Order: sequence, then C-alpha cells, then structure tokens
Amino acid sequence: MLLVHGMRTALFLLVVIQCVAAYRSYKNYKLLRVDVDPVDTLWLEQLAARYHDNVDIWTEPSKVSHHADILVSPRFFNRFVRILDSMAVKHRRVLINDIQKEIDRQMTDDIQFSRRKRSAAVEDGDRQRDLEQFQVDKYHSYGELVDYMYELARKHADIVGIINVTKSFEKRDLLGLKIGKRTPWKPTIFIDAGIHAREWIAPATAIYVAHKLITEYGKNDLITRMVDKFDWFIVPVANPDGYEYSISSDRLWRKTRSKNDTLSKWCVGADANRNWGYRWGEAGANASPCSNIYAGSMPFSEPEVAGIRDFITWQVPDLKLYISLHSYGQIWLAPWGYTNMKPSNHEDQKAAALRALDAITNSSGVHYEYGTIADLMYQASGTSIDYMQDRGVPYIYGVELRPEEDDQVYGFTIPARFIKPTGEEMLASFLALAEYIIEHKKL
Ligand SMILES: *[C@@H]1O[C@H](CO)[C@@H](O)[C@H](O)[C@H]1NC(C)=O
Ligand SMILES: *[C@@H]1O[C@H](CO)[C@@H](O)[C@H](O)[C@H]1NC(C)=O
Ligand SMILES: *[C@@H]1O[C@H](CO)[C@@H](O)[C@H](O)[C@H]1NC(C)=O
Ligand SMILES: [Zn+2]
Repeated sequence: MLLVHGMRTALFLLVVIQCVAAYRSYKNYKLLRVDVDPVDTLWLEQLAARYHDNVDIWTEPSKVSHHADILVSPRFFNRFVRILDSMAVKHRRVLINDIQKEIDRQMTDDIQFSRRKRSAAVEDGDRQRDLEQFQVDKYHSYGELVDYMYELARKHADIVGIINVTKSFEKRDLLGLKIGKRTPWKPTIFIDAGIHAREWIAPATAIYVAHKLITEYGKNDLITRMVDKFDWFIVPVANPDGYEYSISSDRLWRKTRSKNDTLSKWCVGADANRNWGYRWGEAGANASPCSNIYAGSMPFSEPEVAGIRDFITWQVPDLKLYISLHSYGQIWLAPWGYTNMKPSNHEDQKAAALRALDAITNSSGVHYEYGTIADLMYQASGTSIDYMQDRGVPYIYGVELRPEEDDQVYGFTIPARFIKPTGEEMLASFLALAEYIIEHKKL
C-alpha cells in the first residue's frame, strides 16, 4: 500500500515536472508596434508563417490605426528589424520589452483557479462552496467555467439550460448555456467566444454577460423583457482544447489542437476562424499548417467548427443575431470578410451596429470603431461571420474587445479588472441590438 502510494507520488511529481518544463517561455520576446499599409500585408503574413516560432502577428493594421502589433523573439529581433528596413517600414516602437513578465503577472494576479484540480472525486459540498466563491471578474479554467454553467442552470432552472454542442478534437464536451423564458417560437441570439484560444477576455466577457442576464432576470426591466422575448445561446469557450492549452502550456496559443500526421508532424491545429465553409481558403487565410491563420485541411475539418455549424443548423431556430467575441482593438466588425463588397442588407446592419456602439459609449464611455472586416481591417476568408451572412442571418458581428490599440499596452494579457467594464458594455450593446431587432423585424 505504502509502496503503491509512493509510486503514485513519484509519478505525480514526474507529471508535474514535465508540465512545468513544457510551459513555453516568452522571455525577452518583444511586442512591436509597426506602421504598415493595411492593403499590403501579405509579406507580413508570409513572414509570420515561415518564421512562426519567432514572429507572431497579434493585431493586423486597420484603416484607422495603420499599425500592427507583432511579437518577435529575441533571437530573431535584429533580423526582423532589417526586414522592416528593407520593406521601408519606418515607424515602429517597442511596446513591451519582455512579454513573459506580463504573462507572469497575469498568471499571478488575474486567475482564480480553485484550490483543487477539477476531478470527479470531489464531494458535492466542496464543489458548491467553490462555486459560491466563483468570481466572474477573474479568468478561469474551462473545467471551472463548465462547473459554473452547471451551477447557474441548477439555481435558475426556469430560464437556464446547458447546451451540448459537440466534442472537441481532444474529446472535451463543448458546452454552453441557453437562456430564455420557456415559450415556443422564439427568435434567437447566438454568441460565441474564445474561438481563438489566447483571447482570454472574450470567454470572460461571455460568462459575465450570461451571469448578468440570468441573475438580473426579474430585477432589471430591460433584461427581463429581452430574456422573455429571445432565447440567448451563449458558448463562452468555442475552442476548449486551445483554451486549456493556453493555460497549461503556451499562453499565446491561438488555434485548435487538431493533429494530422500526414499534413504536418510538427505543427498542430488550425485557425478555427478560417475554417468555415464559405469562401474557404481564399484571401487572408494560409495553407501552411504552421501558420497561425492556417485554414485547416478542408472546410469544417475542425470538429469544433463543424459542431457549431450543426448545432446552429438543427437546434437554433430563427437566428436573428450572431455575435463572435474576439480580442483585441475595440473594433465592431460586420460582413463581408472575403471581399470589399457590401452585403445587400449592409445599411440595416450598420444602423443596428451604430445603436450598439451608442450603448457602449453610454455604458462605459469607451469607443469602438465600426466597419466591415475587409473594409476596416484586411481580407479574411472562412470566418464564421461570412458563413452566417451566407446563411441569411440578418445581424452578424465580430467584436474585437478591449484593450484599445492606443490604450495602455496590455494586448492578450489584459488584466482581469477589465472584465467587468468590458462585460457591462457588451451587455448594453447586445440589449440595444435586441431592441433594434424587435423594432425592425416587428417581433
Ligand atoms: C454531450 O454529448 C455527447 C455525445 O454527443 C456525450 O458523449 C456527452 O456525454 C454529452 N455531455 C454532456 C455533459 O451532456
Ligand atoms: C489529414 O489530411 C489529409 C490531407 O488533406 C486528409 O485527406 C485527411 O482526411 C486528414 N485526416 C484527418 C484525420 O483529418
Ligand atoms: C444610458 O445608460 C443609462 C443607465 O446607465 C440608461 O438608463 C439609459 O437608457 C441609457 N441610454 C441609452 C441611449 O442607451
Ligand atoms: Zn480572434
């Protein structure tokens, strides 16, 4: 018995050591802000695909900002500067000197992981105590977010249910919430977040919004009306494998965690927001498995993406509003992504978006820039936004959350104290959109 126990401990320590050793260090990686022409970024994309261990594009240049944020490894730094010189890129500055320091700060200050690891053996009483202490304004593991969603569904069974979307590549259940008064024939709203793993503010914002819709129901007049009127589907972590990997192994992981040995032995995952089956693999997606915007081996190759498509097809009737939460840059994006052309209902989508932006300004005073993806940012194909537009969903937006580009520099490692204001302004904007939709679709 003692021997077995000792062996178990040794094994456990081994696993822990391996985990620690496997955690990718970004010591002395620098975040650079460079002025580049938003129309001509192909060279940058190709550079990032080729030197993927050394060059990582955090934000693309927009027509408003004209700059890209790029993370560069210390060993590649001088070479990168020479490449910028050769491309006649004059304006650049170092925003963050050592990104690992930011990661360390976030891991210490911003995360609420419970004292225990999530395991089946936990007593029910313990689990409930943990959940009572759940802080919506901290970052959490996927397991803890799932526990919290179950708790919300248990406590508010009259308006909340758990939805089981699909299984991820690594066989996690991809779960979410359905929030709404149980009446038949309701129009629906679908919100996903965390399709890109490292954009932690997005899942946190989605959980915050869900938490508010649920706990303010019956207290706040506007929320009550909108929860009565619509069914709200909220999937806070659309890429759970990637999200967990960004916690356990590589804070800056973006893609899914799918493996395909025939395609690449070394590079894992695809960009789940280039994998949708409308205009798949065209401009602004990359065919190299090592690229951070790799479109996947074929449309819907990623089980998470195919699963969300199927769920929306079969279980979300009368979808009026689709929102996908990302970070960062404070940008409110509309279709199309693959082309500069505007969809035929562009003016209506724009009017609704401006209402949402007003609500944000009213809520927090913060400004979000509005435009179509291709117009304001860059061409991107195979996005969920374009897919939903092609399906005929009337209102569709991708939101790049905080921080603003000119804000104090935080990037993906934005401190948890921003979750609440970001969540509040998103809630206000979603409610304003819901009101707009009621007016304009005569619901
Ligand atoms: C979700 O559905 C899958 C089957 O598609 C099933 O294996 C799994 O147990 C379900 N999970 C939950 C939490 O209901
Ligand atoms: C791996 O990629 C190949 C080549 O594109 C494809 O034919 C195959 O279906 C993929 N395998 C899996 C398991 O996705
Ligand atoms: C602005 O916010 C206040 C509460 O903070 C709210 O009562 C009011 O309706 C909002 N106005 C608009 C136009 O959203
Ligand atoms: Zn994103």
